[in-house]
Amino acid sequence: MSARVLAGPPTAEALLRDAAQRAGRLPAVPHLAIVRVGEDPASVSYVRGKARKAGEVGLRSTVHVLPETASQAELLALIAALNTDDDVNGLLVQLPLPAHIAEAAVLHAIDPRKDVDGFHPLNVGELWAGRPSLTPCTPAGILFLLRHHAIPLSGTRAVIVGRSSLVGRPLAALLLEADATVTVAHSRTRDLGSVTRAADLLVVAVGQPGLITPDMVKPGATVIDVGINRVVDAQGKGHLVGDVHPDVAGVAGALTPVPGGVGPLTVAQLLANTVHAAELQAA
Ligand code: GUN
Repeated sequence: MSARVLAGPPTAEALLRDAAQRAGRLPAVPHLAIVRVGEDPASVSYVRGKARKAGEVGLRSTVHVLPETASQAELLALIAALNTDDDVNGLLVQLPLPAHIAEAAVLHAIDPRKDVDGFHPLNVGELWAGRPSLTPCTPAGILFLLRHHAIPLSGTRAVIVGRSSLVGRPLAALLLEADATVTVAHSRTRDLGSVTRAADLLVVAVGQPGLITPDMVKPGATVIDVGINRVVDAQGKGHLVGDVHPDVAGVAGALTPVPGGVGPLTVAQLLANTVHAAELQAA
């Protein structure tokens, strides 16, 4: 048996179609402001991808770039200006930030109603209080993927491997909202396999190539691989691989590929969140 493939791109297209329709009912085209500090190559590439996708679905976006040497005060001043600009609906600061800038201070400074990343403590708290509003893009995109493919959640055992504030923690809150029984495993978990083998839904977000092997997966389980790891083969050629070993396809009931799985959903969800932010502001 080979697992059903849960492909990201067509699912992301469905999410984007829905967001574009909702945008069409708003008084103005939603506008996303993206702030990048410095020239980290991955951040440059991610920000370019976000702005390009915004344009493709008919949203407005502007990218604000500060030099690597910009002070925290300069970044906070830019955020304050974008917070009060009524023309801006969504605002995100690309992470990671240079080491001299305190990430928590920056995330606190973003207007929670424009916080399309869902990283502001108010939005984090509302999510854990059972009142999700703007929620982090990768976890929210995963929920969309699961629902789009009619994967049952209520009453099922969900195991998340990884406790990051970008993925593992907010996903735990969203799966609880969906009435799953949620376990969060991490680097200190003893006998990881005994935990993951209990999962009807297994989500892996740790950044360790091939961590999850077939013996760690319950036959028929749904496996979501959030890892995107660059590895170099014996010929010196680079490849992107996930946290889940490819042989898991022989055990799982459904599996997201890497690349072409969760990745495209993150950007699609960001644009859906931008439309949601504009809806909140229009209400
Ligand atoms: N860096 C890596 N992922 C993300 C994300 O989802 N949002 C932001 N702002 N920065 C990131």
